[in-house]
Amino acid sequence: MRVAVGSDHGGFRLKQEIIRVLEEEGVEFRDFGTFSLESCDYPEIALMVAEAVAGEEYHRGILICGTGIGVAIAANKVPGVRAALCHDTFSARMAREHNDTNILTLGERVIGPGLAAEIVRVWLKAEFAGGRHERRVKKIAAIERRTTKIK
Ligand code: RB5
Repeated sequence: MRVAVGSDHGGFRLKQEIIRVLEEEGVEFRDFGTFSLESCDYPEIALMVAEAVAGEEYHRGILICGTGIGVAIAANKVPGVRAALCHDTFSARMAREHNDTNILTLGERVIGPGLAAEIVRVWLKAEFAGGRHERRVKKIAAIERRTTKIK
C-alpha cells in the first residue's frame, strides 16, 4: 500500500510522528509537505494529497492540520476522494468498513500523538465491508457526478 501524507504548519509536528508510525509499519509513503513550521495554506497541501489519491497514484492519504477540519473540507472537493476526520479508533474503523474512506484527517491541536498513531494503525488495517455499504458509497459517487463536470 502506498500512502500520500501531508500537513500544514498546524499539523507539521504530528505529521512527523505519523511518518514514524508508517516507517515502523513498513508502509510505503510520500511526504507532500509542508516541511517546516512556517505558516502555509492547508488547501494547497490537501489538494496535492487528494489528487495523488484520486488519481490512484497512491492508495490512501493522511492529512493533518490544526483541527483536521480544513484539510478534510478541501480534500473532499476533489472527485473520488472520501476523506474523514477521525479522532477515535471506532470512527477510524467505521470510516473504512462502512464508508471506504481513502483519506484520513487528523488535528494536531486536538489529539495527542499516541492516540493519533493508534487511529492511523486501525484505519490502515481496516477493510471496506462492501455489501449494503457499497451501494451507499456508489450513491455518494452518483451525487458527485451530478454536482461536478467530471463524469
Ligand atoms: C492554521 O492556523 C489552522 O487554521 C489550520 O491548521 C486548520 O486547523 C484549519 O482547519
